[in-house]
This record gives sequence, structure tokens and C-alpha cells, in this order.
Amino acid sequence: MANYLRILQLIIAFWCVFYPVLALNNCDFPALFNFGDSNSDTGGFSAAFEAPLPPYGETYFGKPAGRFSDGRLTIDFIAETFGLPYLSAYLDSVGSNFTTGANLATGGSTIRPQPSLPLGRFSPFYLNIQYSQFLQLKSRSLLFSKKGGFFKTLLPKEDYFDRALYTFDIGQNDLTAAFLDKKSTSEIKASIPDMLSNFSANIKALYDQGGRSFWIHNTGPIGCLPYIFVNLPVTQLDNAGCAANFNGVAQYFNLKLKDAVVQLRKDLTLAAITYVDIYTVKYTLISNANKYGFKHPLVACCGSGGKYNYNGKAGCGATINVNGTKVVVGSCKTPSTRVNWDGIHYTEAANKWVFEQIVDGKFSDPPTPLKMACPVAVG
Ligand SMILES: *[C@@H]1O[C@H](CO)[C@@H](O)[C@H](O)[C@H]1NC(C)=O
Ligand SMILES: *[C@@H]1O[C@H](CO)[C@@H](O)[C@H](O)[C@H]1NC(C)=O
Ligand SMILES: *[C@@H]1O[C@H](CO)[C@@H](O)[C@H](O)[C@H]1NC(C)=O
Repeated sequence: MANYLRILQLIIAFWCVFYPVLALNNCDFPALFNFGDSNSDTGGFSAAFEAPLPPYGETYFGKPAGRFSDGRLTIDFIAETFGLPYLSAYLDSVGSNFTTGANLATGGSTIRPQPSLPLGRFSPFYLNIQYSQFLQLKSRSLLFSKKGGFFKTLLPKEDYFDRALYTFDIGQNDLTAAFLDKKSTSEIKASIPDMLSNFSANIKALYDQGGRSFWIHNTGPIGCLPYIFVNLPVTQLDNAGCAANFNGVAQYFNLKLKDAVVQLRKDLTLAAITYVDIYTVKYTLISNANKYGFKHPLVACCGSGGKYNYNGKAGCGATINVNGTKVVVGSCKTPSTRVNWDGIHYTEAANKWVFEQIVDGKFSDPPTPLKMACPVAVG
């Protein structure tokens, strides 16, 4: 039996070498369109409002690069996987090139619009607005492609919209907003179906537009963020020393998100929809930081003050007054060994680690590697 399998494996291996078309197809994504919040914002918030200050971006870009990290985000590593340039933010009117996709995500974005908008704590570019912006990008790209000329070299080709990979990382701020509003755990749980029905409606709308490949990150262990410890009452710790109740809500959101994805697969029969368990990956890193070469996973690298090195009034990059001297809130010595960058966001090193765990499909449902996250070609 074992021999038989071995031989079969060899035959398949040969096949794949000599007839690569017969191998399980790697998808040929010509473009990426990303929707989300600061976990995947590559410059939207920065273009629309204010840019992060140094030392943001210092590890990889040598300067702030619109990202809420010291360097690259998971979405940047995803773009690298396909040999695509890093995504330009849709809102960035200077130097953007959307030929191979666009990033609709902005820091502070939620799925549902927040009552505090337009000028509250959260981004006005909630998911439905990101979708409207995507529609504008699409219709105007088609228009300019017909006109030809210079702008054509900055916009996706018509067929790229159907063939692109659509990526999502959103929901964390809907939960944060509810926590800050002092909603009870049961109230928050009761509001999750509404968030997810709007999330699903947006995926369906993209499908109706021709999108077929969807890569959906679930939400991370929000209860492990210094921001939560400092701003909210933490009563109970879990095994990793994180806020158990906040992580519990995140896990509940993920459970329901997974159900929503199962339903989407039934409804959108021509789509490949991959659910990626970012929660487990981030939680694994935080609970076993030393094992993976990291330390102080619950303490911000760039920040000031207290047990968590985090203070919302003196955040990473801010200039503060220390005994009459102006000081910039700077980075820790080795961000490459730290998980948390600024109290809310992850370091490049952590983002890279997370990416390396998810790329092969080990944390995906179905267990699809990133490169195969498109519908299986038929015929
Ligand atoms: C935009 O990017 C595409 C793909 O990377 C490239 O072919 C094109 O020349 C770029 N356009 C400009 C104006 O640089
Ligand atoms: C999602 O919610 C927004 C705001 O309430 C609403 O305008 C929009 O129609 C909903 N999106 C979809 C696709 O149903
Ligand atoms: C600021 O001054 C106080 C009182 O003199 C001193 O205890 C503290 O260490 C000083 N802080 C810093 C960061 O130098």
C-alpha cells in the first residue's frame, strides 16, 4: 500500500514537472484589492488625515510609509508573494499606481458606520464606503482605459477586476468601538450578526461585480493589545496574560464570521472564499513569544510609560515634554524581537511571522495556500 502511494506520488510529481498545467493551479492574480483597517492600511488614513510620524516605517522604509508599523504589513508580504508591487492607497493622490490593484483600507475603519462619525474616533471610510470607492475606481478605470494615454498606464485592465484576489481584514474596530461604548459582552455579541450581515452583503456585491477570489482574515486577539489594558477595565487574564473577556468577544466574532463565510460559499457558487485564522496565529505568537525569538509580547516597542509602555496621550512618534525637555517617543532597541509596535499594531517582524504561518494554508479553511486561493478552473 505504502509503495503504491509512493509510486502514485512520483507519477504526480513527474506530471507536475512536465505538464505544469496539470498541477494544482497556482492562481495568476494580476491584481489585489484590499479592504480593511489599520492592520492592512498602506497609506489611506495617512493620505486622508495625517501621516504617522517617525519612527513609524523606520525598519523597512527608513521613513513613515503610511503604515501603522515599523515596516511592512501582512498585505505587503501577500503582494510580494505574487510578485506585485506594494498596494497604493486608493485615497493617495500623489504617486499612486493602481495597475495591479488598490488598497481601500484605512486605519480606524469599521464594518458598520459609527455614531461618532464623521469626526469621531473611527474612520469615515467604513466597509460600505470602501466598496463605493472600489466601484468608482473600477468605473473610472474602464473609462480612462478607453481614452488611452498616460492614465491608462496607472489603472488596472478591465479583466483584472474579475481575476484579482480580494482581501479583507476588518471587524477589530467594530469591537473596539463597542468596548469603548461600555457595552456589555452580551450586547456586543448581539450586535455581531448585524456587522456580519453587512460584511457578507459587501462580499456579495463584489461577487456581483465579477470578483471570484476572496481571502478573508478573521480578527486578532484584541485582548492582548496594550491599548486595551490601558483604556479598559481588565478583570480576568487568559493563559497568555491577555484580557480574557475581550479575547472571548473576538473569538465569538470569528465563530460567527466563519459561519457567514460558510453561507457565502453556498450562495456564491463560482467563488473561492478562504477564511484565514489570524487569531490563532497571533495568539500562538503572543503565548509562545520566547520560543519564536520574540519578547515582551504585551508591551509596546514604541511608546512611553507604564507597564505596557503605552500612553494614548504620548503615543509612538509624539513629541512630549519630559522635565522641561522636548523628547520624541521613540522605538525600543530591537523591534525585530518585538511583537507589538505601538500598543495597537504589530511590528514588521511579527507581521512577517504571521504571514509565514498563513501562506501555506495551514490556518485556512479550506486549507488553501495563498497562491491557490482562486476557483479551480473547469474544462
Ligand atoms: C504602473 O505600474 C505598472 C505595473 O507595475 C507599470 O507597468 C507602469 O509602467 C506603471 N506606470 C507608471 C506611470 O509608472
Ligand atoms: C451596509 O451598511 C451601510 C450603512 O448602514 C448601508 O448603507 C449599506 O447598504 C450596507 N451594505 C450592503 C451591501 O448592504
Ligand atoms: C524628571 O524629574 C524627576 C524629579 O526630579 C525625576 O525623578 C525623574 O527621574 C525625571 N525624569 C526623567 C525621565 O528624567
